[in-house]
Amino acid sequence: MVMQLTAKQSIHLPRTAELIRVEKLSDREKVFEFKFDDGKELGQKPGQFVEVSIFGVGEAPISVTSSPTHKGSFELAVRATGGVTNKLHTLEKGAKAGIRGPFGNGFPIDTLKGKDILFVAGGIGLFPLRSLINYVMDKRSDFGEVNTLFGCRSPQERLFIGQLAEWDKSKDMCFLETVDRVPDDEWKGNVGVITTLFPKISFDPKKTYAIVVGPPIMYRFVIAECLKKGLADDHIIMSLERRMKCGVGKCGHCQINGLYCCQEGPVFTYAQVKSLKEAV
Ligand SMILES: Cc1cc2nc3c(=O)[nH]c(=O)nc-3n(C[C@H](O)[C@H](O)[C@H](O)COP(=O)(O)OP(=O)(O)OC[C@H]3O[C@@H](n4cnc5c(N)ncnc54)[C@H](O)[C@@H]3O)c2cc1C
Ligand code: FES
Repeated sequence: MVMQLTAKQSIHLPRTAELIRVEKLSDREKVFEFKFDDGKELGQKPGQFVEVSIFGVGEAPISVTSSPTHKGSFELAVRATGGVTNKLHTLEKGAKAGIRGPFGNGFPIDTLKGKDILFVAGGIGLFPLRSLINYVMDKRSDFGEVNTLFGCRSPQERLFIGQLAEWDKSKDMCFLETVDRVPDDEWKGNVGVITTLFPKISFDPKKTYAIVVGPPIMYRFVIAECLKKGLADDHIIMSLERRMKCGVGKCGHCQINGLYCCQEGPVFTYAQVKSLKEAV
């Protein structure tokens, strides 16, 4: 007998997808492009994530790094850190994986339409943010001025190098990047933490939303800079990663003071989380 799945049941069942491209980004990171076996779109919003299953190993939450304006397939950029991600890094074109989702709230596109945007990405924070940056670039006339800041630890840890070069040349955004330290003198760009880029940009805090994604330590300093520049608490938007299991509000692993990060987040405004001790 063929079992009919209800919408509620299907959020727990992965759909199979084929790996159609693998690209090395750095020593620890690769981008994986998948296509569903049923030919359907993922249908994500920028900032949403999926649960990726590697059969026989387990599942891990991974942000979708491609924009929904890119049709027919989707990209996941992954750092090899543990069981699932290390196994994923061994897969080659033609391999199959299971995908549940998309999950989470994603970035508030409707709020951002017509506004100026300041993107601030630290390290692999670029993975979720890239989906929104690419979306904004593909629908450029829907948005105002765009400033993008990217920082990582060393030149060897820069990600999506070809795309960084395109953003650098683009007349549609002001793009600045920095590295924390330089082990060799090949690098001719900025050196210093990401907040050292703030004095080099200007924006109108009334019309601007900052979208900040990076390691936990970065939030404290970047939020302080944003506030110093006059941005209101609800104009500072961030994506928070927490340990997640189910991705659908059932297991409680992702809770921050009673907030379910997998469902109410991972995207929050600073106004929403500033009083939550564990959030930032
Ligand atoms: C919403 C969301 C989006 C994400 N997006 C991305 C993305 O786009 N790209 C990406 O590379 N990663 C992303 N991550 C992080 C990724 O899900 C984790 O790195 C995940 O743990 C990888 O699974 P794994 O099985 O490979 O690693 P695990 O086996 O879970 O191990 C990962 C690391 O965590 C440590 N660890 C494991 N369990 C615990 C524990 N209980 N307490 C403390 N430390 C522990 C391990 O020692 C190891 O260092 C995202 C996470 C979330 C929540
Ligand atoms: S990950 Fe299970 S409740 Fe959020």
